[in-house]
Amino acid sequence: MNRPIQGFSKLTKREKIEWIATQYTADPEATKTVLERYWNSDTKLQQLHDEFIENTLTNFYLPLGIAPNFLINGRLYALPMAIEESSVVAAASKAAKFWLHKGGFKAEVLGTEKIGQVHFMFDGDTDTLQVFFDRIKDTLKSDAASITKNMKKRGGGITAIELRDKTADLPHYYQLHCTFETLDAMGANFINSCLEQFAQTLQREAENYEGFTGTERNIEVVMSILSNYVPQCVVKAEVQCAVEDLNIQPTVSPDEFAEKMVRAVQIAKVEPHRAVTHNKGIMNGIDAVVLATGNDFRAVEAGVHAYASKDGTYGSLTHANVKDGIFHFWIEIPLALGTVGGLTSLHPLVKLALEILGKPTAKELMQIVAVAGLAQNFAAVSSLVTTGIQEGHMKMHLLNILNQLGATESEKKMLTEYFKKHTVTHSAVVEAFDKLKSN
Ligand code: MEV
Repeated sequence: MNRPIQGFSKLTKREKIEWIATQYTADPEATKTVLERYWNSDTKLQQLHDEFIENTLTNFYLPLGIAPNFLINGRLYALPMAIEESSVVAAASKAAKFWLHKGGFKAEVLGTEKIGQVHFMFDGDTDTLQVFFDRIKDTLKSDAASITKNMKKRGGGITAIELRDKTADLPHYYQLHCTFETLDAMGANFINSCLEQFAQTLQREAENYEGFTGTERNIEVVMSILSNYVPQCVVKAEVQCAVEDLNIQPTVSPDEFAEKMVRAVQIAKVEPHRAVTHNKGIMNGIDAVVLATGNDFRAVEAGVHAYASKDGTYGSLTHANVKDGIFHFWIEIPLALGTVGGLTSLHPLVKLALEILGKPTAKELMQIVAVAGLAQNFAAVSSLVTTGIQEGHMKMHLLNILNQLGATESEKKMLTEYFKKHTVTHSAVVEAFDKLKSN
């Protein structure tokens, strides 16, 4: 039976591995070998990765691929994508190539407002609290001056602090709802430091405010934290072309294709089960670029899905229509991204990914990432409404199956050739592999 451990974080890396291998795995020696095989022989680089988190044992690799030929606002990009799903990079590349000679993608940042809140409980009169808040508003900002100084110099900082009465939702609950401009930084540390300072000022000033009596002086701060829901930090990306140019498949006419694309998006707008999968396909592109550029994909995921429900039901993040013979396809999503701070100057592959993208500003990165999502959705939905998804997906998955079966390089080559003309299914690959082996 496994036993709890005290002071695990104090053990050396080898001791941690020894412990996990003997306590939790059937073959400790094999476990140790696997974990150590993924160490980097460059000890400095390994140490850098070890120190990103607590209790590091080894590295967990994901492939970093490139989807070239993305024409965005007239500039050509090659998108770095970190992702394990076999068909994603191929699908993105295909969509990029399709739109390359049709004017490419246009993208525009509609807003960059970040949000943070101090959540607190106040036992007293709301109007009196409002008067108090108006009195201390300047002090809230001036107390945070040392935190905001550099950001302000660059043109960012706190943009607004508002008192919000939330007592209709929860008795005694109020917020300082604060907005920020964090320029090229994602801004989480900046925002959270400001908020924690606001909370201290709020409590201190309340204790000494002559307009408060009794319990009113004891404001209970519950928490101070940024919000990953940023509906005013939004980017739009779009493509358009004449319907007659939608020559995706020889078997489907451009008119029929346009109609089916619009229908598919309409379905994803009204049907949450489909919408979740539709949006998952979008996130295939978004997460891959977000991850490669060292941004927080969990924050992006949480914010994007909340945005997909902003009208009361969960729906498609992309939109499509045909007007006057022109097919329009677009996405509007919130993306709080940074190109400075965090991992951006620490992780060598993140630095490289940003260099490949031409060292973008946060706004440019928002545009690139939105385009990655739109392209991925275009690729997925156009397959779904024409050939179906499995043909392309299984072709890409073929190598994974062959690797699972332990195929040699020459066997992989022969079977890849064979499956150019045959349908890939798991059982068909196993059968063809067994046949090859027995010959
Ligand atoms: C698979 O990772 C993504 C898709 O399911 C997206 C979609 O259905 O639109 C193909």
